[in-house]
Amino acid sequence: METVHVALPGRDYDVHIGTGLLAQAGALIAPLLQRPRVAVISDETVAALHLDTLQAGLHAAGIEMVALRLPAGEGTKSWPYLTQAVEWLLDQRVERRDVVVALGGGVIGDLVGFAAAILRRGVRFVQIPTSLLAQVDSSVGGKTGINTRHGKNLVGAFHQPALVLADTGVLSSLGLRDYLAGYGEVVKYGLLGDAGFFDWLETHGPKAAAGDMVARIFAVRRSVEMKARIVEADETEQGERALLNLGHTFCHAFEAATAYDGARLLHGEGVAIGCALAFELSARLGLCSQEEPSRVRAHLRAMGMKVDLADIPGDLPDAAALLALMGQDKKVIDGKLRFILARGIGQAFVTSDVPPQAVVQLLDEALQDKARR
Ligand code: GLY
Repeated sequence: METVHVALPGRDYDVHIGTGLLAQAGALIAPLLQRPRVAVISDETVAALHLDTLQAGLHAAGIEMVALRLPAGEGTKSWPYLTQAVEWLLDQRVERRDVVVALGGGVIGDLVGFAAAILRRGVRFVQIPTSLLAQVDSSVGGKTGINTRHGKNLVGAFHQPALVLADTGVLSSLGLRDYLAGYGEVVKYGLLGDAGFFDWLETHGPKAAAGDMVARIFAVRRSVEMKARIVEADETEQGERALLNLGHTFCHAFEAATAYDGARLLHGEGVAIGCALAFELSARLGLCSQEEPSRVRAHLRAMGMKVDLADIPGDLPDAAALLALMGQDKKVIDGKLRFILARGIGQAFVTSDVPPQAVVQLLDEALQDKARR
């Protein structure tokens, strides 16, 4: 088991990474408990796969478990299920000193983290992320929340978990498409701040995708380590944390344009396409050489990932409409779009100084390429 410590004053925690952590969950969670009982919230798909293993792991340390299973899918990150989760936790007499456990991907982690943030003005929670995306990104750093009819993640709280158990063994139950979508966020870390990690991914990424556990643990650990250092420096995203949004301004426009239909585009796939576009835009603005976006695209292709707008099935709106969708992103400040651009692989920076015309032209060419294929 590897451990990354997130050193936030007064709310520091460990992220444990390795195989078999569900089975050891009782021993790992026990030091947090005032009484041997936890409330677990999961989704139906993950619960069917992993809840029995977690229960056995908790029982082995004498910890009782009550569990709520919510429907799987993005629709669960919403007011009705937040209400259901909070009322259920109150039905279960979860008290201020108790611990709530989120067992699932990003949707469950965000929803349950937010429920824990507001329940009795804040109870501690443990993240047990079961998707690659949740292990390397959403379970670490304390962003919690739900979607509303106005957009994604618009209601929420910063509420750090008390512990994260990233059991890399459970990644074996993911389909390749879901694994690769999560890998979009892994590549993001190399691109934004660690060229050596990107080199490593070029060599070892295919082996990790094929199931090599040593490679998977390294990829998750390095990603979590990078996220932890960024969150320590800028917990509430006043500056540096925005680097974690590399590729996301583009991604959110594509997700909105495809009505958040996972059959067409998963979040991590949009991040990968967005990273490729952010590097292309950087090259066009003279910030880096053309070799850099070419190398990014070559790696994504080699991994069998979506790289271009042409890889998104179905129609997309025109470039101006996509730009307008970017304008609805919550990363807009004073009406100005914020982009994460790069001076090279591993050298990303935040800027509001991007001519909209350059973005429209880039998207227009990508859409023309899509129309030709
Ligand atoms: N997923 C971006 C962040 O945690 O800041």
